[in-house]
Amino acid sequence: MAALEVRDLHVRVGDKLILRGVDFALEAGKVHALMGPNGSGKSTLALALAGHPEYQVVRGQAFLEGQDLLGLLPHERARAGLFVAFQHPPEVEGVKLREFLRLACSERGKGFCEFQKAFPQALRRLRMEEFKGRELNVGFSGGEKKRAELLALYMLRPKVALLDEPDSGVDVDALRLIAEVITEMAAFGTAILIITHYPRLLEHVPPDEVFVLLDGKISDRGGPELAWKIGEMGFEVVRR
Ligand SMILES: Nc1ncnc2c1ncn2[C@@H]1O[C@H](COP(=O)(O)OP(=O)(O)OP(=O)(O)O)[C@@H](O)[C@H]1O
Ligand SMILES: [Mg+2]
Repeated sequence: MAALEVRDLHVRVGDKLILRGVDFALEAGKVHALMGPNGSGKSTLALALAGHPEYQVVRGQAFLEGQDLLGLLPHERARAGLFVAFQHPPEVEGVKLREFLRLACSERGKGFCEFQKAFPQALRRLRMEEFKGRELNVGFSGGEKKRAELLALYMLRPKVALLDEPDSGVDVDALRLIAEVITEMAAFGTAILIITHYPRLLEHVPPDEVFVLLDGKISDRGGPELAWKIGEMGFEVVRR
């Protein structure tokens, strides 16, 4: 059974139909990549699956380990094992990074003692020790916000992780670190979807499968070579 299976997904934002029949599956322990031009609907896909109220599913289905996902509320989807790292992580004033992660962990049945042990280790892994007392994403640089998303992934160990441009705005060292953490999470068993524009991150984490989103559908799929081709020649190679 797939960790996540999406069938014929149609999503409307406002009065615009953005996704028009998206089909794909993610396997546990595997890395998948989703590429597509600006505005093709990659973030729309992630946000609709997370249950964002502005992204309205008008047709189609999604199953997390066989369980109907679209019938669940956003927090129930998260509790069921879906994790979404945002392209633009919001700044949340008044909420400490540590408290946010402690509550998220406790919602998933991880006790305080377990959190106390795992949190410092995760901070070290993501090289974020000095952020533990900071408010969630408040004043974080672009690259730091991306690392904080990965910190949450590392702590929560979800079944499925949709990572919306985890590589945007990060420096070369952080890129390598993010790649290592993604590889580690896949080895742990998480089904990963990396949404990205460039093969740069994928060179460090070779994907098992690459999907291309064009004109509201998955127009092409293949191995890592598809990502290298798009990196070199753009989406025209897929359109032809
Ligand atoms: N809240 C919204 N209101 C109106 N239009 C929206 C909204 N959210 C997304 N859209 C539109 O939906 C389309 C898809 O946007 P989306 O952010 O999903 O694209 P994307 O593939 O993630 O692009 P990028 O690569 O630039 O991140 C765009 O035309 C965008 O303007
Ligand atoms: Mg996007």
